[in-house]
Amino acid sequence: MFNIQRPRRNRRNQAIRNLVRENDLRPNDLIAPLFLKEGKDLREPIHSMPGIYRYSIDQLVLECKELYDLGVHCVALFPAIEDKLKNSKASEALNSSGLYQRAIREVKNAVPELLVMTDIALDPYSSDGHDGLVDPKTGEILNDETLEVLAEMAVVQARAGADILGPSDMMDGRVAVIREALDEENFTDIAIMSYTAKYASAFYGPFRDALNSAPKKGDKKTYQMDYANVREALREAYLDEEEGADILMVKPGLPYLDVIKTLKENTTLPIAAYNVSGEYAMVKAAHERGWIDGEKVMMEMLMSFKRAGSDMILTYFAKEAAKVIHY
Ligand code: PBG
Repeated sequence: MFNIQRPRRNRRNQAIRNLVRENDLRPNDLIAPLFLKEGKDLREPIHSMPGIYRYSIDQLVLECKELYDLGVHCVALFPAIEDKLKNSKASEALNSSGLYQRAIREVKNAVPELLVMTDIALDPYSSDGHDGLVDPKTGEILNDETLEVLAEMAVVQARAGADILGPSDMMDGRVAVIREALDEENFTDIAIMSYTAKYASAFYGPFRDALNSAPKKGDKKTYQMDYANVREALREAYLDEEEGADILMVKPGLPYLDVIKTLKENTTLPIAAYNVSGEYAMVKAAHERGWIDGEKVMMEMLMSFKRAGSDMILTYFAKEAAKVIHY
């Protein structure tokens, strides 16, 4: 008859719910991925990602200022490279006056306190659409040959002013060669956020639309991880840690909360989750149909990353969520 255990007592009103709340979501937990392209005064909508645009550098700078003022203090930049600049060596990736490097410089000039995170992988620049160099005879993705390009890319991005480098390519040994190349050039303070457990995923579809970067042949399964595996993610985490990574990332996010939790329990490094394009698109699509309340689902989804153990979240919802948090 007397029920002394009443968990509902701690849910009676908002004030007590706030007191007992175990996790918190702040705008400065969020990293906004932003797409850029050559041009002026451009905000080109991406049809599979409502609310997300390809910005020309001038507009990108404005967006960065707005994000900073909303409390989002890190952006991750991704370039849409013109087809005529793509080749099998991805050489545009190393162009110090190319679109990407100019964008990094201009954003850092305009908003010096904002952290600029970059992407290190060849796919946006490669005529093959792969993250590494492709052997023209066998179609194999060449590991060690790719490492040399990635190391050079890192130095070029560091020179442009990047704060955090994000190798997203999944070649073996990339964190070590990037760290060494940076340190040789005295970029000892530039951090590496490794895409540690990056799965071969169908959730990247809208991103590949945004950059027109889908593989021309084959898939990415010889370098990105099999989605059936979690112990393998631990192996990648140990290697990245040994090789000098500063932050470990899990990608995609939502279907991989178990991986986030496992890594968190097995490292002392901070953990990032990448709430990827397909996860964003699903929420937007269902919201547009009136099937879910997109804003509420967004906040619930973002909190799930914190609960699983993410210290930070890369998410296309960054701006929208920051506004909701501030009201
Ligand atoms: C490329 C890269 C991808 C994403 C981030 N960096 C796509 C891929 O690996 O094919 C996906 C991000 C997203 O879907 O939001 N190295």
